[in-house]
Amino acid sequence: MSKFDKVIKNGTIVTASDTYKGDLGIKDGIIAEIGQNLECDTVIDAAGKLIIPGGIDAHTHLDMPFGGTFSSDDFESGSKAAAIGGTTSFIDYSIQPAGGTLADAVKIWKEKGAKSCVDYGLHVAITKADENALAEIPTMVKEGITSFKVFMVYDAMRVNDAAFMNILEKSKEHGALVGVHCENYHVINHRTKQLLEAGKTEPKYHAVSRPATCEGEAANRAITLAKLTNAPLYIVHNSCEESISRVKEAREAGLPIMGETCPQYVMLSEDNYDEPGFNGAKYVMSPPLRSKKNWDYIWQQLKDGVIQTVATDHCPFFMKQKELGKDDFTKIPNGGPGIETRMAIMLSEGPKHGLSLNKVVEVTSTNVAKIFGMYPKKGTIAVGSDADLVLYDANKEVTITKDVLHENVDYTAFEGVKVSGYPVMTLSRGDVVAKDGEYIGESNRGQFIKRGKSIVL
Ligand code: URP
Ligand code: ZN
Ligand code: ZN
Ligand code: ZN
Repeated sequence: MSKFDKVIKNGTIVTASDTYKGDLGIKDGIIAEIGQNLECDTVIDAAGKLIIPGGIDAHTHLDMPFGGTFSSDDFESGSKAAAIGGTTSFIDYSIQPAGGTLADAVKIWKEKGAKSCVDYGLHVAITKADENALAEIPTMVKEGITSFKVFMVYDAMRVNDAAFMNILEKSKEHGALVGVHCENYHVINHRTKQLLEAGKTEPKYHAVSRPATCEGEAANRAITLAKLTNAPLYIVHNSCEESISRVKEAREAGLPIMGETCPQYVMLSEDNYDEPGFNGAKYVMSPPLRSKKNWDYIWQQLKDGVIQTVATDHCPFFMKQKELGKDDFTKIPNGGPGIETRMAIMLSEGPKHGLSLNKVVEVTSTNVAKIFGMYPKKGTIAVGSDADLVLYDANKEVTITKDVLHENVDYTAFEGVKVSGYPVMTLSRGDVVAKDGEYIGESNRGQFIKRGKSIVL
């Protein structure tokens, strides 16, 4: 009898730090041995393929209530799309419900999460930072929820600066990390009022109402509050130089400030809002798409480590749902799809923009695992780590269209993007869950990830 359940042979292993040829022996869902000429009855031949750690998406919104509707991927469809696209873990944002507790958020989201096909963790977005909510933070941390989120915008979710400071202080005290959505609420309201009064109601005015300057201001303020409370901070979905330059400055000053970006901010631009008819609504997300001049800047900051992670902010809505804002851009549910395309886009585009494949692995998996307390169980290929693995065919050319994807939504923002390389097999804890663009694993097999302390990068 073999000492392994399966062996992956002949592949080239790519981690954040190394590239080498080796066989992987998998036993009970764990990488049991890395070596040469490993033997087993069950062999996966990875000749000609790269083997990378499964992608980890730190920013998803599955089945999320927003603007009177729900994002259209639930944990089942979203996690299957993730697996097909080479993502084996994700962290979704549970949201403290109005009048409810943090524990309520977790209960609601774990019920949703029971349908997940790959492993998932939860952040909790604190929408009312009263004494009770703050007192729940240590319990959350004990339960493996070691990151919280603050929204500086959205009427239903935002907290003020004082509440933000309370969350930073309490999180710091209990070893948790705070993530923040940075935009200036008052500036957006002011601009929105002017635009609507002038009859400017089309989707493109969503972007006009929330310029890059107001993201930069909020990032600066968030960093200032983190500095005042001596707490680490993770700024989600940075879209532009205005915010990232603040992160850069803070890091140069030695502050523990970290940042995330998303593929849409290096692949799409404000020009997309000019697509005919109501198509601009596909790209209504916050922060909005920016000018193309940001792209090279963001790639460079990823390369330099100023920005540590690439997540998706996956929050899809069918066009029918987007039409809630047919006559008023403020009523268009914010967000777009991306959970299935992130890995292919980053693995293909990253090297074209000066990132090594190791660096792409780092920003899509390893750094995410470190920052969110899952390393080295997740985020790398090492003996003792979960066998969350992706076989990537660097020679497989794919044109991304809605039809090749499995996200539960009627468009992709990346329609027509050509990628040179594609994930062809995904293993989650040793199980082959996706192969050649189809989900082939069991349903509901995903496990909740109890996360530990964050490593500040
Ligand atoms: O437009 C977006 N990003 N929708 C999801 C919620 C958020 O702000 O992350
Ligand atoms: Zn956000
Ligand atoms: Zn988001
Ligand atoms: Zn480019």
